[in-house]
Amino acid sequence: MAKQKITSSSTAEYFSKNLQQVGFSSPTKAVLTTLKEAIDNSLDACEDEGILPELYIEIEKVGAGTIKNTDLIRIKVEDNGPGLNIEDVPKVFGEYLASSKFGRGRCSRGQQGIGISAATTWAQLTSAKGARIITKTKTMRQAVSCLVEVDVKNNKGNLKDKKTISWDRSHGVSVEFVLDGRIQLQGEGGLITYLTGTALVNPHLNLRYKLLDQSVVKVDRVSDKCPDIPNAVEPHPHTMKLGEFIAHSHLFGKATVATFLKKGFSRITDNTFQEFVKNGMDKKFLTQSVDKTTDAQFKDVFGAIHKTELMSPSTRSVMIIGEETFSKSVRRLGEVDFFSVVTRKPTICDFKPVAIEIAVARLKTAQKVEGDDSPPVQVLRFANRVPLQFDKSACAMVKAIETVNWRSYGIPQPKNSLPLGPYVIAVSLVSPFIKFKNASKETVDASDELVEEIRRALIQAGQRLSRHIKKEHREADLEEKLRHIEQFCPILVDCLCRITKATEKRKKAATEGLVKLLGRDVNAAKKELDEALKHHKEAHAKGKIQIVEKEKAKSEDGEEELKPPHPEDSDVIPEAEEAPLKAKTEKPASKAKKKAVAKSKEKMKEKEV
Ligand SMILES: Nc1ncnc2c1ncn2[C@@H]1O[C@H](COP(=O)(O)OP(=O)(O)OP(=O)(O)O)[C@@H](O)[C@H]1O
Ligand SMILES: [Mg+2]
Repeated sequence: MAKQKITSSSTAEYFSKNLQQVGFSSPTKAVLTTLKEAIDNSLDACEDEGILPELYIEIEKVGAGTIKNTDLIRIKVEDNGPGLNIEDVPKVFGEYLASSKFGRGRCSRGQQGIGISAATTWAQLTSAKGARIITKTKTMRQAVSCLVEVDVKNNKGNLKDKKTISWDRSHGVSVEFVLDGRIQLQGEGGLITYLTGTALVNPHLNLRYKLLDQSVVKVDRVSDKCPDIPNAVEPHPHTMKLGEFIAHSHLFGKATVATFLKKGFSRITDNTFQEFVKNGMDKKFLTQSVDKTTDAQFKDVFGAIHKTELMSPSTRSVMIIGEETFSKSVRRLGEVDFFSVVTRKPTICDFKPVAIEIAVARLKTAQKVEGDDSPPVQVLRFANRVPLQFDKSACAMVKAIETVNWRSYGIPQPKNSLPLGPYVIAVSLVSPFIKFKNASKETVDASDELVEEIRRALIQAGQRLSRHIKKEHREADLEEKLRHIEQFCPILVDCLCRITKATEKRKKAATEGLVKLLGRDVNAAKKELDEALKHHKEAHAKGKIQIVEKEKAKSEDGEEELKPPHPEDSDVIPEAEEAPLKAKTEKPASKAKKKAVAKSKEKMKEKEV
């Protein structure tokens, strides 16, 4: 017998030693992750109750940290959500794997029941204090304030210092942590980048934040509609491994295997049972209770299910931000002189429903270094409307951006890399079953089907951008021609007349002739530009006619969504392919065009006179 004694540890003990796995891998990330977990929970709670979220955030340094090169930082997040009953508070903030969202198949930000307890643990480990909570539900007469600490040995939350207080919110939760960390405001892991991204994909959010000694920043909502979170969907059996399948069955206890299969999964019906039997499942298992079914029998059932072709899951459970709202939100990114928004209809990737939305925006304020010397575009990644800020290189969204040929749209791009220029490319992925590469939910697994779906959306946005860039080039070309005519026409005529000693009458005729000649050139350029504009408008109008409603109706019944990739769906999608989508394009350059055309007309008139 082995000498070593076998002991077991609690979930809290495991996480307290491995906080780096859930986003606390550096002092900078600790601050961002704490903020993110609290905001995710507030937004989820508000949406579940149909409340338009009003969040107030405060982050400040309150002293020196206990870890080298860190500060002691206070982070407070206050929401107007439904609030928490006081008996749930220790579970929520001090117990791991306590959640209202486990496997419920909805597109919520939280999924694991780990996030906020990990934040409490980090605060407790570094500042020796847990989470300070204020909560008030509609039915509570007064708010309750308390401190929650994690009992690491027993995976339990301990409530301390509980007292009733008066609070100016009618309902909501305020959570405050004091922890060792470092503050980074800008850049990929920056707090402002996170807050801006959160506002971008949550257009219904009213956000107020105060960072360090800066004054309060207000980001107002651009939509008064609380997103409709679609009903949950059960997992598709083909997405599960045998172990998960058996673990899932334990939720059904005494129910029959038939009930477990029908209620626990999507797309299994009485009719599909016949197919399972044909594919080797013993019929008698169906009437047997889940409790009494052995692992070997489950293996047989699982094998038969995997041999059977099943309908793809419904796409009804995924939600989209919507082009109109997303477009309004894009303008909050800063001064943007062009943007294109593409919302793909929900589809199935790897047997899971997903919806992809893309925004490509060109920033006016960014330093406009065009060409191969410019820095890479800024990529904003979102999973279930949460910004992802780390480990981008392995992420499905970045892989998709890198595989698009941006050069063909007029944007410089080193081989197999991100394109370059003053652009922001935002990719939003919404799905009830996002496969993250890590527990800290920072990178989305790059399956071929998912990368292809994102690529298609990017290509459509890229084509819009390309048309806009070409239009700009034509306008610049026309300006240039007009400038040359203005500059050289009188000089040329004058010189020629002096050389030939021509009379005034002859000079007048020559001027008119030359203007006619050059005018033809101008007219040709103008015609070319008008044609390009017409084409642009037509494409735009087409998008409007092909209404998104029609697309939605299709996707709502969910049945006809699974389409194999179009073989011709290469970097150049034909117009017809693009038609069902509606992209919004600003036309800042139309002023320049009008000016140029008016100038040319004026010039012609002048000469004619
Ligand atoms: N501000 C809040 N208002 C109301 N309920 C909350 C709030 N914060 C947390 N909760 C509840 O506490 C539960 C646990 O939160 P926690 O962040 O630990 O896990 P999660 O959000 O379910 O999943 P994840 O670990 O992925 O974040 C949530 O499921 C939610 O029911
Ligand atoms: Mg959470």
